[in-house]
Amino acid sequence: MTVAFDPAAVGFDPQDPVFLADPYPVYARMRELGPILHYAARDLFLVNRFADVNACLRDRRLGREYRHRHTDDEFGRTGPDPRWQQFNASEQWSLLNLEPPDHTRLRRLVSKVFTARSIGALRPRIQALAADRLRSAASPDFDLISTFAQPFSIAVICTLLGVPPEDGPRLLAWSHAIVKMYEFTATDFERQAADDAAGEFIGYVGELIIARRSEPEDDLISELVLVADQGDMLTPDEIICTVIVLLNAGHEATVNTLGNGMRAMFRHPEQWARVVAGEVSPTTALEEMLRWDAPLQLFERWVLEDGVQIGGRVFAVGERIGMMFGSANRDPDRFPDADAFDVARGDQAHIGFGGGLHFCLGAPLARLELEIAVAALAVLPGLALLEEPAYQPYFVLRGLCALRLGAPG
Ligand code: HEM
Repeated sequence: MTVAFDPAAVGFDPQDPVFLADPYPVYARMRELGPILHYAARDLFLVNRFADVNACLRDRRLGREYRHRHTDDEFGRTGPDPRWQQFNASEQWSLLNLEPPDHTRLRRLVSKVFTARSIGALRPRIQALAADRLRSAASPDFDLISTFAQPFSIAVICTLLGVPPEDGPRLLAWSHAIVKMYEFTATDFERQAADDAAGEFIGYVGELIIARRSEPEDDLISELVLVADQGDMLTPDEIICTVIVLLNAGHEATVNTLGNGMRAMFRHPEQWARVVAGEVSPTTALEEMLRWDAPLQLFERWVLEDGVQIGGRVFAVGERIGMMFGSANRDPDRFPDADAFDVARGDQAHIGFGGGLHFCLGAPLARLELEIAVAALAVLPGLALLEEPAYQPYFVLRGLCALRLGAPG
């Protein structure tokens, strides 16, 4: 059953700074209204409870894409917007946009090089990068986001892929521009900027691939160029899209998790004190950082078959679902005392990394980065919040503009 839903009455407005500053009380009101709420402004059925979001993620009758099964006409859609050709090209072979059998094939090939072992082997290099960034960042007063989280995270993904570290700032600018495309509120100006950035990014990665093909190095791009599975190999376009999705997915969410999570720590200093004292390990605490203030608030799925039943509603093919990760992670039916930030909770089965077919490929790397970053921050004596931070004016990718912290000089 879908409940009549007046977004304004509960305060659900993805453009409203008050909502963006703290969406969680609004989510609680939405969960009380019912499990499925139709958001008319985007013709989207919002799914807000943990059990339902979890079921959606694992339901193969739902897809991130529909064109492998249906035509645009059948779905009453016009195809990809021809104005954004470069953006569309950068997404064409992105794992995030594929469904089986293409997804299965590409994920198998990429997973052959993006292994837990190859990630684990990076630990000493990531530790060195964190120490290095923190040395240059931590003056008596520093912004955790711009002087630590962003350059650290981009340096990690550059190291892994084999992208020259001095190109980090360009990649950051392209990535910031591209991800605006996923927001509810994207303007044509932002879309044009995303398209331009995608074009430059494609050209840049294309050149790197040519270089690695002639002279392979000990990095992921070389491995992607060389990987083969029973005679199957990645095409140049597939490698380009894979590198772009790894670069984009690989740092935006990690930066926002660190920012949102550390803000949560300083709003609950007694919790941070437990981490600093070594009572709770960074490995355990980072799971609560991911759950309590999700860096990714919503993912969408298309209904590919009639008869899918979620939250008591039967869906029809062509309908679109919005899975509310932020709400699911605060669902009291799943998490006892769900609004409490408890660093020792240690519950890894939150929705932070998704689930099912598209479960985050980079989860082991993200966890390693977060663990190392939290551990490095915990040994800075007397770290404190200097001013209440503001969130960026975006809903889907939730993150802070800045997080000013104080540390001894
Ligand atoms: C804290 C940081 C991160 C969070 C919270 C996160 C979250 C997610 C989520 C929720 C999905 C699934 C989306 C869906 O089901 O529609 C996903 C997919 C993905 N993530 Fe992450 N991610 C993080 C870090 C990373 C990193 C570091 C990388 C790689 C370097 C990465 C690469 C990917 C890729 C390639 C996919 C697509 C997988 C597929 O479709 O098969 N992520 N991520």
